[in-house]
Amino acid sequence: MIIAHITDFHVGRIIETSGSPVDLHGKMVNAIAHLRRLKPQPDLIMLTGDLSNHGNEADYIRVRQALQTLDMPVYIIPGNHDRRAILRRVFPDHIYWTDDKFLHYTIEKYPLRIIALDTLLEGAHEGMMDEERLEWLEARLSEDGRKTAVFMHHPPFQTGLYYPDRIMCRNGDAFGNVIARHSHIQAIICGHTHRDVVTFWRGVPAYVTASATFTNGLILYPVDDVDPLFEPPTCRLFVWENERLTSHLSFIDEYPYGLSEGVPKPPENEG
Ligand SMILES: [Fe+2]
Ligand SMILES: [Fe+2]
Repeated sequence: MIIAHITDFHVGRIIETSGSPVDLHGKMVNAIAHLRRLKPQPDLIMLTGDLSNHGNEADYIRVRQALQTLDMPVYIIPGNHDRRAILRRVFPDHIYWTDDKFLHYTIEKYPLRIIALDTLLEGAHEGMMDEERLEWLEARLSEDGRKTAVFMHHPPFQTGLYYPDRIMCRNGDAFGNVIARHSHIQAIICGHTHRDVVTFWRGVPAYVTASATFTNGLILYPVDDVDPLFEPPTCRLFVWENERLTSHLSFIDEYPYGLSEGVPKPPENEG
């Protein structure tokens, strides 16, 4: 089983650069084309929020049109730039959104169970796991002891990246207490920081996947804001095999150099 994790398109944002402006819609189209080229094709896509930059219908429609070129199911959760009501309107066929209030759900049909959380606090950039959402999570984790991956937009832990740490998921301690009670959780997988991070938190491996359209700098000191960068964008492939989850970074775009050299021979041992 292969899960492709992709996040933070921010379609609708146009970034001024020293050259010509970069429309993130084009970057999103590249990222989807990359997913289409993957061999083997992932079984499913987890798209963990900030689909659009402004949460408006026209940009969601552009994301929807690009996603429709994929052959595998795509599961969406919201980020701080998203709006639940407009997501529901533009993606009415995403029938796994069965909760009236939150866009959280479980995916049961694969060997690895998936719990997708809704950390959106509308009107804020920080995320939230309040008591209501924690109760829902506790119930989902208690009802089934199968191995499980948890996806969410906002990391509930500090990453050391100064700027996103200021707008992380609130109530992280209480969330961590729920996580620590359930030893069948294989990973917590987030977006939101626009940089790749891997850590170990409350007994669980934790991954933050960078944005598929633009990055933020590696800023480990206090700043008020961050400027976007165009480092190579990535998504992540999670392979679930033999009851073990393995993460691979997958670089979006073409990197054609070095193709003529072939496989180098190992050095011969002397004497
Ligand atoms: Fe984002
Ligand atoms: Fe975000």
